Amino acid sequence: MKVGIESLALYSSRYYLPLSALAEARNIDPQKFTVGLGQEKMAVLPPNEDIVTMAASAAKEALVGIDPKSISMVLFATESSIDQSKAAGIWVHNLLNLSSACRVVELKQACFAGCAGLLLALSYIKQFPGQKVLLLASDVARYGLGAIGEPTQGCGACAIVLSAEPKLVSFEPETASYTSHVMDFWRPNYKEEALVDGKYSTKIYLEALQECWKNYQALSNRALTDHARFCYHIPFTKMAMKAHERLCRESKRVGYAQNEIQDSLIYSKNLGNSYTASLFIGLASLLENSSEDLSEKRIGFFSYGSGCVAEFFSGIVEPGYKNHLKQAYHKAMLEKREALDVAEYERFYAFRLPEDGGTFSVPQYTAGDFVLSEISAHERRYAKNDRLYAKQDEELAKSVNAL
Ligand code: HMG
Repeated sequence: MKVGIESLALYSSRYYLPLSALAEARNIDPQKFTVGLGQEKMAVLPPNEDIVTMAASAAKEALVGIDPKSISMVLFATESSIDQSKAAGIWVHNLLNLSSACRVVELKQACFAGCAGLLLALSYIKQFPGQKVLLLASDVARYGLGAIGEPTQGCGACAIVLSAEPKLVSFEPETASYTSHVMDFWRPNYKEEALVDGKYSTKIYLEALQECWKNYQALSNRALTDHARFCYHIPFTKMAMKAHERLCRESKRVGYAQNEIQDSLIYSKNLGNSYTASLFIGLASLLENSSEDLSEKRIGFFSYGSGCVAEFFSGIVEPGYKNHLKQAYHKAMLEKREALDVAEYERFYAFRLPEDGGTFSVPQYTAGDFVLSEISAHERRYAKNDRLYAKQDEELAKSVNAL
C-alpha cells in the first residue's frame, strides 16, 4: 500500500524585509547574508497574523478538492506555540469547519516536529487506510534585533494532506533516526526569542546528518546516487548546501552536484527559516521549480530539530504530480508581498499582544484568508479576512507606519 502526500500548500506573511536593507542598517557587508548565508529576503509577520492564521490559510488551499469529512486527524507541529494547553490546531479545525469526529493534537521537538507528524501520520494511515491526516507545520523564527541569528529569521506554514492516495510523493519504509542531548538551540517558556549557540548548532546539524545517513544506508542499501534530489531542513540555504557537500564528500562523490538541491532552496531563500515547515517548503519549492520531470524519481529527505532529533528518509515522486501542485497560488503569494523598511520591520517585531485580559482590537494589515481580530479575556479570536491580499488595500498597506 502506498502512503504519502496527496496535497501540499504553503503560506507566509504578506510582508518581507530585504536582507540588503538589514545589512545596511546593521553595518554588515550584504554579501555576508546573500552569499555567506544564501538568503535574500526575510518574511515578517504583521500583528494580525500568527501560527494559526498562517496554518489555516495554507490548509484552506491544501484542502481544495478534498472532502473535509475525510480528514480524521489534524497534527499541528510548531515551536511557536500560542498556548501551553490547547492545541493551535483546534482553532484551525474551527476556522475550516472540520468534522467534530476529527481529533487534533500539537507536536513539539524544534524543527523536527513536522517530520515527527509525518511519521506518525503515515503509520496511522497504514492502520486506517481510508482515513486522511491534515499535517500542519507553522512557525515564526525569532532571534532578536541585532542578534547573530537575526538574518536567519522568517516565518511560514505548510499544510499537507496525507493519505493512501498520494498524488505528489509516496514515502518508502526505510527511515533512520538520531537523537542526542545537546544545547545548540532552545527557548525556555519565559523567553520570546530562541537562545542559540549558532556555530555549534551548524556543527551538530552536520554530525546528525552523518549519523542518520549511515543508519539509513544500512537499512536501505542505497547509495547517494540512488537519489535524484535531496530536501534538507533549511535554517538558511547555505546550511543545506553544506549538508549536501558533506554527504557528497562522505560518499566519495567527485564534485558537488548543485542541481540535486538548488530548486529546493528557492522558496526558503525568500522566506527565511520557518522551523517545522522548512523541510516541506523545500519539497514544494523543488517540485514546483524543477524543469525536469521528476516522476518516479527518488528524493532523500533530512529533517533536523535542535536539541536534537534528526531523521533521514526517502520518497518517490508520483507520476502526474505536476497536475496537483499549487504552483500558481504560491507564485502569486510570493510575488504580491510588500517590502518593509527596517523601521517598519522593527515596529512589527516589537509588537506584543496585551496580557491584562482586557479587550483589544488587533491592528489590521494585509493578510491571508484569516486574521487575528481581537484578544479578550485572554482568548484569541480569529476571523475570515474580507480584504484578501490579492485585492491589495492601499490604505491598509500604508497603515504599517501607524503601529
Ligand atoms: P555568523 O556569526 O554570521 O557566521 O553566524 P560567520 O561569521 O561564520 O558567517 C557566515 C558565513 O558567511 C561564513 O561562511 C562566512 O565565511 C561568510 P562559511 O564559512 O560558513 O561558508 N561571510 C561572507 N561571505 C561573503 N561575503 C562576506 C562575508 N562575511 C562572512 N563579506 C550563524 C552564522 C548561522 C551561526 C547565525 O546566523 C546563527 O546563529 N543562526 C541561527 C542558528 C542556525 O540557523 N543554525 C543552523 C543549524 S541548527 C538548525 O537548523 C535548527 C534550527 O532551525 C532550529 C530548530 O531546530 O528549531 C535553527
